[in-house]
Amino acid sequence: MKTIVIREPGGPDVLTLADLPKPEPRAEEVLIKVAAAGVNRPDVLQRMGLYPPPPGVSNVPGLEVAGGIAAVGERVSRWKAGDKVTALTAGGGYAEFALAHEGSCMKAPKGLSMAEAACIPEIFMTVWHNIFERGALKAGECFLVHGGSSGIGSTAIQLASHFGARVFATAGSDEKCAYCESLGAERAINYKTQNFAKQIKELTCGHGVDVILDMVGGAYVQDDIACAAEDGRIVQIAFLKGAKVQVDLMPLMLKRLTLTGSTLRPRKLEFKARLANELVRKVWPLLENGSLKIVIDQVFPLAHAADAHRDMESNLHMGKIVLVV
Ligand SMILES: NC(=O)c1ccc[n+]([C@@H]2O[C@H](COP(=O)([O-])OP(=O)(O)OC[C@H]3O[C@@H](n4cnc5c(N)ncnc54)[C@H](OP(=O)(O)O)[C@@H]3O)[C@@H](O)[C@H]2O)c1
Repeated sequence: MKTIVIREPGGPDVLTLADLPKPEPRAEEVLIKVAAAGVNRPDVLQRMGLYPPPPGVSNVPGLEVAGGIAAVGERVSRWKAGDKVTALTAGGGYAEFALAHEGSCMKAPKGLSMAEAACIPEIFMTVWHNIFERGALKAGECFLVHGGSSGIGSTAIQLASHFGARVFATAGSDEKCAYCESLGAERAINYKTQNFAKQIKELTCGHGVDVILDMVGGAYVQDDIACAAEDGRIVQIAFLKGAKVQVDLMPLMLKRLTLTGSTLRPRKLEFKARLANELVRKVWPLLENGSLKIVIDQVFPLAHAADAHRDMESNLHMGKIVLVV
């Protein structure tokens, strides 16, 4: 099968089209004939050698796919050949065929294209767990997401506003801020021209935000602490500006803040299966009735995965980047 391999750690050009044997599903796995694969920032880190796959997992990048089931392992009971699914993969999504555990597959939402369906698993699972479970965001609370125009940010804005939060975002240009507001953010702050912590305090009349989803880290950590409301929850999902910071923790104690974080890939299969079920129950109806949108910035053929990574690293995109097979 045609597959994108990482020749060696490096820039986008190390992504090379190769022929590899089609993988065989183990007892609880399905083999998916990939129609489309979502591109995520962790794929870029993996390509650079900074995010190795878990032990026993293919080094082929790709954490989410959509397509038809081609074969099932002997203990698979939920799926049969021909079913259309979207699936979280441990890796290996940039290929004509990919493996997924049966519990990490979700029926493809009705009315969505395969390219749209492929954009769902990684970001919706990450956002759902981190803002509603870890961050315990409730209707009526104030929510802030950094990187508001990213794949993650676009989903976080829509889900948080749909479930009744007041949503704020930061992004790196006025155009991206307008995009965030078009998705449901009450106000998006251009972090290149304004201090977001000061703006948030003003916009919330001094209350601050109850939950922050932060993928930036670095100097943002102190500003997050500054603009968090009393009993606020700050959830780290990445550190685009660095994981090592010096922070004054006094306000954390005085405001009784929670600083937490998580990463999806190494979590247990049972955890992913529970999240998948929860999403199908609570979010699929919203995708199928058009209340939530999958915003695709660019679609590339599988063979042009290097261009897709270049596009992601340009930071000009708004929404998701997808490979189609
Ligand atoms: N923990 C988990 O389980 C998990 C799962 C999936 C993804 N993630 C992380 O979530 C983040 C978003 O993923 P994605 O696939 O949605 O990525 P993406 O679409 O490429 O978005 C990354 C965004 O971050 C912003 N950004 C980049 N460098 C920045 C910097 N130095 N300072 C401030 N903002 C910066 C960019 O927009 P601006 O122009 O606004 O700067 C860009 O929109 C990634 O860091 C990824 O690793 C974590």
